[in-house]
Amino acid sequence: MRRLMAANWKMYKTSAEAKDTLLLLAELLGNRSPEGREVLVFAPFTALEASAEAMRALHGGHVGAQNMYPAMEGAFTGEISPAMILASGASWVLIGHSERRHLLGESDEFIGRKVRLALQTGLNVMLCVGETLEEREQGALAGVLQRQISLALEGIEKEAMPHLAVAYEPVWAIGTGKSASSADIEEAHALLNQLLEKHFETTREIPVLYGGSVKPENAHSILALDNVDGVLVGGASLQAESFSRIVTA
Ligand code: PGA
Repeated sequence: MRRLMAANWKMYKTSAEAKDTLLLLAELLGNRSPEGREVLVFAPFTALEASAEAMRALHGGHVGAQNMYPAMEGAFTGEISPAMILASGASWVLIGHSERRHLLGESDEFIGRKVRLALQTGLNVMLCVGETLEEREQGALAGVLQRQISLALEGIEKEAMPHLAVAYEPVWAIGTGKSASSADIEEAHALLNQLLEKHFETTREIPVLYGGSVKPENAHSILALDNVDGVLVGGASLQAESFSRIVTA
């Protein structure tokens, strides 16, 4: 399985800052991502074009947007379409990040509409799923992942698999400095594999990443866990030096 080493820059970095960070990252990595690993950077909309341009310095690197609206164009003030993302030079989109689900109230159905249109338009999709602390404490992990996966992937067929990745990000581990335990990660990734295999009726070909307080210090041990095909990194991806240590961990 190919490995995806992904950065989620959230609402950080102007286009000039994004460019500088990516050029430094490319330099630190010797202008290519490590063998068998792809680097993905989910940049703010205003930095997509500059990031896509700067990413040319890194062989095996790709740029993505952090969200999109599920329509090709129209009267949706403040939103961005999949065609606009593609035209910026980006090739990926992050969909269903927990900050959008919880701070902005995005539903599973709305997320499913985005996944369908992004794939139809030719974008690669990184779908984020994960339970809250309350859901975990109620023993609802399996049910939550099942609901998030089935509604997000409704109507998505096997052909889309090469363009899809899933990131497991327990909400309580995001930005808290407290990553999930090895056992928690392996349990959730095993559940996700079962759900993906059931949905697509085939053995899994979709990378499943872990996200939530990944740092240079814990990246290697997380990447060594069963069924972990990469990491999605927030805070520790903002500095090129720290992210390059994760990419090569
Ligand atoms: P974090 O964020 O690495 O800062 O915990 C991860 C994410 O939100 O994708």
